[in-house]
Amino acid sequence: MRVGIFDSGIGGLSVLHQALRRIPEAEFIYYADEEHVPYGEKTEKQIKGYINEIIKFMLKKQVDAIVIACNTATSVATKEYRSKFPVPIIGMEPAVKQAVELYGHLPGRILVAATPVTIAGDKLHHLLEKVDREDKVDLAALPGLVRFAEKGDFDTEEIMKYLTKELKHYPLHKYKAFVLGCTHFNYFMAYYKRIFSENVKFIDGNAGTIRQLLRKLEYTGGESCNTLADTASYNGDDGKVTFYFSGKPVTAGDRKRIKAYMEQLDRLDSI
Ligand code: DGL
Repeated sequence: MRVGIFDSGIGGLSVLHQALRRIPEAEFIYYADEEHVPYGEKTEKQIKGYINEIIKFMLKKQVDAIVIACNTATSVATKEYRSKFPVPIIGMEPAVKQAVELYGHLPGRILVAATPVTIAGDKLHHLLEKVDREDKVDLAALPGLVRFAEKGDFDTEEIMKYLTKELKHYPLHKYKAFVLGCTHFNYFMAYYKRIFSENVKFIDGNAGTIRQLLRKLEYTGGESCNTLADTASYNGDDGKVTFYFSGKPVTAGDRKRIKAYMEQLDRLDSI
């Protein structure tokens, strides 16, 4: 079984990280469009062009399914568009529905953070019309986090300064849930924990996306494999994951960079 996962950059590694555990016997192709990141600040037309290229690339690699591990790309790729390809295409959207279903009944508000394209997109607004009937959801575009993530800056007070500035007009003490609506945002959990009150729940779309992938593949095996086994596969030494940056095989330097992201994701497992 071969699964293609793509993102504008390294955000989708957080989806790969979970997929490696859930489907240990699959072979993965991970495509980061490093030449065009950030998608969140591009036009819809540009993003559609990038997606078309990547899907063509994945189909040539004979994948059995493609995961768009990018909320921004999914936001511009409509349903009709996805159904025109011969393999299942699984997209991601901010887990607003899940947040409202789980926590909507509790007092307080829900904050959804994503890229400017996702926040402005019709897809999210249609979803909100359906699920946010009591108007309890606020939206925040945080494109700066994509830049920090791409630089591999997980550990700098600049992130805290950025978040404090961008969220200064939001009623932070009122939030009961924070939805990470961009896969690049997963690397900064330690900062969200500092910004929000202790009881805030954090929700991302990764687990739901993997569940959808498993359904589409009609996969029933493998529960999980341990972190060390995963880490070995990040090096690509066992042929489990083949990485491409905008269609080109990755260099030794890129591989080192990827490993640092995967290690950061391992660390986040325990906070
Ligand atoms: N990782 C992407 C997402 O989930 C987009 C980041 C970007 O390229 O702006 O939306």
